[in-house]
Amino acid sequence: MRPITRSVFGACTAAVLVFAVAGCVDEKKVLQEKPLFEQPPAAAVGYLGYTDTTQDAKKTACGNCHVAHQADWQQTKHSHAWLDLQASDHAAQTCEACHTVGPNGNSGESGGWAATRDPRYVDVQCESCHGPGLDHVTAPDAGVKPLASIAADTGALGVSGCSGCHSGTHNSFVENWRSSRHGILEVHAATSTSTTGKCVNCHTGQGWLAREGVTAHYKEMNNTGANSVAITCAVCHDPHSDKYPAQTRLAVDVADTTANLCMTCHMRESEADPANTRGPHSPEGPTLLGEAGWFPPNATFQPGDLRGTHATGNMCVTCHMSTTNFTKDTLGNANVGHTFQAIPCVNASGEYVAGDCADSQRSFKACTASGCHGTEAAARSAYATAELRINTLVAEANRLIALVPASEFVAPDTNLTVGEGAKFNVQLAQKPGAVAHNPFLLESLLTTSIQALKDQYHLTSTPGIPLANELKAPAR
Ligand code: HEC
Ligand code: HEC
Ligand code: HEC
Ligand code: HEC
Ligand code: HEC
Ligand code: HEC
Ligand code: HEC
Ligand code: HEC
Repeated sequence: MRPITRSVFGACTAAVLVFAVAGCVDEKKVLQEKPLFEQPPAAAVGYLGYTDTTQDAKKTACGNCHVAHQADWQQTKHSHAWLDLQASDHAAQTCEACHTVGPNGNSGESGGWAATRDPRYVDVQCESCHGPGLDHVTAPDAGVKPLASIAADTGALGVSGCSGCHSGTHNSFVENWRSSRHGILEVHAATSTSTTGKCVNCHTGQGWLAREGVTAHYKEMNNTGANSVAITCAVCHDPHSDKYPAQTRLAVDVADTTANLCMTCHMRESEADPANTRGPHSPEGPTLLGEAGWFPPNATFQPGDLRGTHATGNMCVTCHMSTTNFTKDTLGNANVGHTFQAIPCVNASGEYVAGDCADSQRSFKACTASGCHGTEAAARSAYATAELRINTLVAEANRLIALVPASEFVAPDTNLTVGEGAKFNVQLAQKPGAVAHNPFLLESLLTTSIQALKDQYHLTSTPGIPLANELKAPAR
């Protein structure tokens, strides 16, 4: 997310249109006189590719001016896609379109490698995503900007952004992602005019990028409302930098809702607020970290004390992006972890089936692959035990809440009553996945809420429901 500044070009555009910058960065400071780019072969249709094809140079024509992007991109796997293909022992001509510069990935312009087999077009270079740049480098300030797309899966597989290459049965990133709710635009949120809700901050690609300070221009930048894009690849992935593994824009292994990629969105309305009439919204991050919920006055624990045992390592990613849960779906698409399903439904052959199903038909392999649980059966059983316990406490809390006078539930206002706080904790416990995210926090919130309801409203609880903590982390 390093915005390129005008001063970077300032020096370059003036000098470089005549002289190459290659010499400028050479330790011996030998200035080489060399054109900025060589006229590409006509058949390449405007793609420039490398200016120097010696194997490790990786000097893109674009990088002669956009030096920061060049340096960042060079660290990414895209910059050695060709070598890796050749090293794989089964390289064939049919493989090449996704490991070179050409129509795959950008606006579908033909040309590049496929048309010329000129080595300047090997690897996934700038123009794989930005399209042919001849017009732009000829007159950089003239307004012809080779803008990249942040869209994915516009329906035309083969020509749309990352989908052009990251799709197909062997690397089904697009197919996986499309089946998840990240791949679907929540039109209501995208078109909301709420200034307090800031729905687009988390529900549209453009909104999140703007919030995180990505000022770079891209094709869909000015698309708003129903024309916005969903949470696409380029939202989570930095196209230029591998600062974090797998080129994610933010880290996934930090316990911080402002710095963890997933938690920057999965953190809304996690605390009881008398002005909020809708209950928790996306409380997964704070739940995992033991920070979510209403902490009753009688609680002896503070936010953060009851961090989930699962709040370690890659956090959300450990469970939600496991590639071991199934090998393929019923259409033959491989699991590349981008369905974001922690315990996906699988059929008898172990193939992924989209939709809902009983826990017995879900794969719990992510729980064993992470090293947290010994067997799938043990994980499934731990989940069932926790679910049963939480459901019992939820039922009891709800029974008591129904006995509380309606005057205690006035919202929105500024007063948070015990009844409202307890109700919030019940809603939190009922969010999908909450039991997996932090059963210990939920149990404590519910037992203390039940006690607080009894004390505040002089109610008696059902005998036989223990209010001491029963759930324990399973033995490894
Ligand atoms: C001769 C130097 C030069 C070369 C080579 C060059 N650019 Fe640029 N590029 C510029 C300058 C200068 C600007 C800024 C123009 C402006 O702001 O109006 C720019 C702007 C851009 C922008 C728009 C940035 C924005 O936020 O509006 C993109 C995208 C871009 N270049 C991509 C490329 C790609 C891809 C290549 C290789 C095909 C390339 N450039 C090659 C000088 C260059
Ligand atoms: C022209 C084809 C092509 C396009 C377009 C393309 N990629 Fe890739 N991508 C590849 C190939 C090939 C590799 C594997 C390179 C290798 O490892 O040798 C790869 C690797 C990656 C990786 C792996 C990084 C890692 O460290 O494991 C990420 C992440 C990625 N691409 C994201 C994207 C995103 C996001 C876009 C769109 C903005 C995109 N790619 C567009 C072909 C493409
Ligand atoms: C539809 C586009 C596409 C085609 C066709 C394609 N690849 Fe790839 N290839 C990719 C993408 C995208 C990745 C990155 C996937 C990832 O990081 O998981 C990749 C990654 C690879 C890697 C992994 C590099 C590494 O070690 O990280 C190798 C090797 C490879 N491809 C070889 C091949 C071979 C051999 C063929 C032909 C039989 C082929 N590819 C055809 C898109 C393609
Ligand atoms: C995997 C696809 C991909 C590759 C490869 C890629 N870009 Fe980009 N580029 C994008 C996307 C998407 C954006 C807009 C979002 C962003 O910047 O994060 C962008 C934005 C830009 C911008 C906008 C200006 C700015 O302020 O950042 C420039 C300039 C640029 N890229 C140049 C390059 C150059 C030069 C290379 C090669 C060294 C390159 N890109 C390689 C996808 C790519
Ligand atoms: C801070 C980020 C963030 C903001 C701001 C945000 N949302 Fe969400 N929203 C999420 C996340 C993450 C989910 C998915 C997780 C979940 O359902 O717990 C979600 C889920 C939803 C859902 C699906 C819920 C369901 O139960 O199926 C709707 C509808 C929705 N949001 C609407 C809105 C509207 C309307 C606004 C603005 C008033 C808004 N969101 C603001 C992050 C946010
Ligand atoms: C919600 C965030 C998010 C979205 C959206 C997303 N990714 Fe990823 N992606 C990740 C994370 C996190 C990882 C690292 C996973 C891990 O460490 O196991 C990753 C890993 C990858 C890798 C490397 C996989 C490997 O085996 O090395 C590729 C390639 C990739 N993503 C491509 C894509 C493409 C293409 C899209 C769009 C179709 C996409 N991603 C959408 C978060 C995302
Ligand atoms: C840009 C904001 C954003 C980021 C970053 C983000 N999410 Fe989401 N996520 C959402 C929204 C919004 C939804 C719900 C969309 C809807 O229902 O319309 C969602 C839905 C989900 C779902 C439900 C999936 C389904 O298909 O039912 C899971 C699981 C999830 N996200 C996990 C993750 C993980 C893991 C990460 C980090 C790798 C992550 N999210 C990063 C915004 C985000
Ligand atoms: C210990 C493994 C684990 C961890 C860690 C984890 N989750 Fe979950 N998550 C689950 C399970 C299991 C479910 C329930 C899935 C279901 O019912 O389909 C779930 C459900 C969800 C859902 C609701 C999906 C739906 O179908 O509506 C979202 C959203 C979600 N998790 C996001 C996250 C985020 C964000 C993080 C990190 C802050 C995270 N999860 C951490 C296991 C985990």
